[in-house]
This record gives sequence, structure tokens and C-alpha cells, in this order.
Amino acid sequence: MAAGSSMVKVCDHPLIRQALGELRRKETVPLEFRARVGELARYLSYEAARDLSVASVEIETPLMKTTAERVDEEKMILAPILRAGLAMIDGAMATFPHAQVRHIGIFRDEKTLQPVEYYCKVPAVLDPETLVLVLDPMLATGGSAIAAIDLFKKRGITRFKFICLIAAPEGIANVQSLHPEVPIYTANVDQKLNERGYIVPGLGDAGDRCFGTH
Ligand code: PRP
Ligand code: URA
Repeated sequence: MAAGSSMVKVCDHPLIRQALGELRRKETVPLEFRARVGELARYLSYEAARDLSVASVEIETPLMKTTAERVDEEKMILAPILRAGLAMIDGAMATFPHAQVRHIGIFRDEKTLQPVEYYCKVPAVLDPETLVLVLDPMLATGGSAIAAIDLFKKRGITRFKFICLIAAPEGIANVQSLHPEVPIYTANVDQKLNERGYIVPGLGDAGDRCFGTH
């Protein structure tokens, strides 16, 4: 597995650790919670961009011609998993302003913990060159992440990155058993899942905390 694998990128910059702490606090209200999710999505997207290729371009400064670098215009899709993934869109788009956003609705059944897909605004066929960044704050059992990646693989996608804020070791292992080529970017790998499938210490239910429901 898993947390020690090179496919798991734990981004532990001090500002990331600070924002994550604010998210975890039970007193953090939805407006602040969503702002922090967005902030972390921006930082983690930035990390996820680290291995993108750059091309040399000729430019002119006020003084002379020189060579600059520009990130190759990748075909990219940001795929937030509703609901909590919604709060990650603006932060990720700040990093990737030319990306498309393709929403997918998946919730997990509270009893079985199995993912249930209820919305999919994604064409049946996609350009296989496209890089898909799946966005969801929580990787718990991994069921939702696996369902989202499956959905895009059925449409021809082969290139993925999964960006979350907190991951459980169990979820990482499950994603890696089915989709070992997908790198996982996260701010932290927490201890474990509790008996109800929640990440501990975690932050509770991310969708509820984003939108003030419970
Ligand atoms: C949360 C979270 C993930 C999922 C993770 O969504 O945002 O999508 O749980 O759990 P898993 O790894 O075990 O699948 P939830 O199902 O609570 O839906 P919501 O965002 O609509 O509240
Ligand atoms: N989904 C959440 O929102 N939180 C958890 O801890 C687990 C799944």
C-alpha cells in the first residue's frame, strides 16, 4: 500500500497544515469551512501540477529577447464529486483556469457505505489524452473515488490524479488495488476509519460541514 507509496503525495506545507487544522475544528462555520476547502484545493492543485510538462517560448522583455517557459496547454477536466467537491472547484480553477469542470454526483449509502451515483454531467466519449483531476475532500473507504475513476475510464480516460484533503489508509489501499496508476494528492493520511466508516480524527461529514446540513 498505501500511505508510504510513491503514488501517495502528502503535501504538508505549514500553510496546508494550518488550513487543515481550521477545517478539523468543530466550531468552524460553513462559510469559513468552504473557504478553507477552497484554499486547500488551490494548494493541492498546485502540487498536482508539479510534473506537468513545460514548453519553451520566445518572448521579449523591455530589454531583449529571451526564452520563457509555459505549461503545455493540457486538455484537462476537473471532476468534483458532489456535494463536498463543489467547494474545491474555485481553488482548483485558480490553478487551472482553462480546465473544463465536469460534475459528478455520488453519495455513499449510510448503511452499506457503498457509493450511489445520482448525477453525471459527462459526455459518453472523451478524448483519451485528457487529464482528469478528481476532486473530493474525503477519501474514506475509497468507494466514491473508485466509482468516479471507473466512470471516466468507461469514457476513454487513462490519465488521472485524485485530489483530496484527508485520506484514510483503508481508502488509499482500496483505490490502489483497483487503480494503482492513479496518484493521490492529500494534505494528510489520518489514523483509520471508525465503525461507521468515518475518518478519525477527520473533520466529520464534509458535505454537511460545507452546507450546514446534518
Ligand atoms: C463524502 C465525501 C466523499 C465520500 C467519501 O460524501 O465527500 O464523496 O463521502 O467516502 P468513501 O470514500 O467511503 O466513498 P457523502 O457520501 O457524505 O455525500 P455528500 O457529499 O453529498 O454529503
Ligand atoms: N465522508 C465524509 O464526509 N467524512 C468522512 O469521515 C468519511 C466519509
